[in-house]
Amino acid sequence: MVDATGTRRADVLVKGDVVAEVSAGGPLARPAGAVVLDAEGAFVAPGLVDLHAHLREPGGEEAETIETGTRAAALGGYTAVVAMPNTSPAASSAAVVRQVLHLARGALCEVQPAGTVTEGRAGRTLANMAEMAAEGARIFTDDGNGVQDAALMRRALEYASALGVVVADHCEEASLAANGCMNEGALSSLLGLPGRPAVSEEVMVLRDLALARLTGARLHLLHLSTAASVAAVVAARAAGARVTAEVTPHHLALEDELVKGYDPVFKVNPPLRAASDRRALVAALADGALDAVATDHAPHPPEAKQVSFCDAAPGMLGLETAFGVVAGLGLPLQRVLAVMSWQPAAIAGLAPAHGGPVVPGAPANLCVLDPGRRWVVRGAALASRSRNTPYEGRELVGRARHTLFRGEPVVVAEEAQR
Ligand code: DOR
Repeated sequence: MVDATGTRRADVLVKGDVVAEVSAGGPLARPAGAVVLDAEGAFVAPGLVDLHAHLREPGGEEAETIETGTRAAALGGYTAVVAMPNTSPAASSAAVVRQVLHLARGALCEVQPAGTVTEGRAGRTLANMAEMAAEGARIFTDDGNGVQDAALMRRALEYASALGVVVADHCEEASLAANGCMNEGALSSLLGLPGRPAVSEEVMVLRDLALARLTGARLHLLHLSTAASVAAVVAARAAGARVTAEVTPHHLALEDELVKGYDPVFKVNPPLRAASDRRALVAALADGALDAVATDHAPHPPEAKQVSFCDAAPGMLGLETAFGVVAGLGLPLQRVLAVMSWQPAAIAGLAPAHGGPVVPGAPANLCVLDPGRRWVVRGAALASRSRNTPYEGRELVGRARHTLFRGEPVVVAEEAQR
């Protein structure tokens, strides 16, 4: 078993929706009628928590629904996900937040709806964060767009601070990002594709770190993709900013070289970066500069991807493959779980119900992870309604075997139970 308190050998007994007993070493007496889930060669852990999933409902049901997205999440070992608000309509009101919560009743994992920072993600006026916070939103973001107006961002941080919620920042300065569709560099010139420079991210990271220090608000930086962004976070934290930062599995594992074949499955915002950036992100995840791995699971239907590279929608699937991709980076399992379970749970205010220590009385939101399991990714076999995985045909080592959500085995031996 592995949780934030360490790693040990134990049996875990779940009764109803809570952990009833944890053995101190030896096996537990098995109550009559108990269902036994085999964890041989694997680890029982708090369920994974994703700070960044596009479940697409309402309005994008041809790409994903809350039902298919949460099934993908449970199969990936997740017991909770934060649903991004760039839906149609956007989650800019209590009504849409309530609708997402309503659609998530009976889902295979917990869904925490995020609200937008600005009304309709249009970047002009603040959304009513207070009414959404009252419905349970804890994270506010215009994800997909950066908030371009610095004064509006300052106000958002001030309001968020008063409400005790987190602003999650999609850092891209629009005039620099412009119509770029891959990382700007020698390769984009060679391929004849407009580039999206690293600096389009970094100037907004620097701006918002300064605003976080000014306001004292909690700031979370989404999907950081460059070495300089991480260095800015480290410096701002040392200077007192209350900042957390995430990285995606794809920015940890994939590089801009993949765009050479012009396959739109490798188009994503921010774009896949240079090898040196990727290596810096892995090092920052290992040494604690980055707090969380978040999937940015971004399903798109075939018609949005089967077009030219520049015309394609940005985004890739991530929920079912995230553990295998991150397990392949060679970090200790305790660190992998820190960045995929208890640290993101704390950022989203989902702890200790999710990500908390596995102790008697704790809600049974658990997964059983097999770090040695070899499997080949096949988009057609994924639970997501979309197929845009960048790992098609790749072998991953590491997979969730079972997932328990509120005590119910929702995934058993890699199969969803409903
Ligand atoms: O590639 C991306 N896709 N980046 C984002 O920020 C948004 C996302 C989406 O919604 O498809």
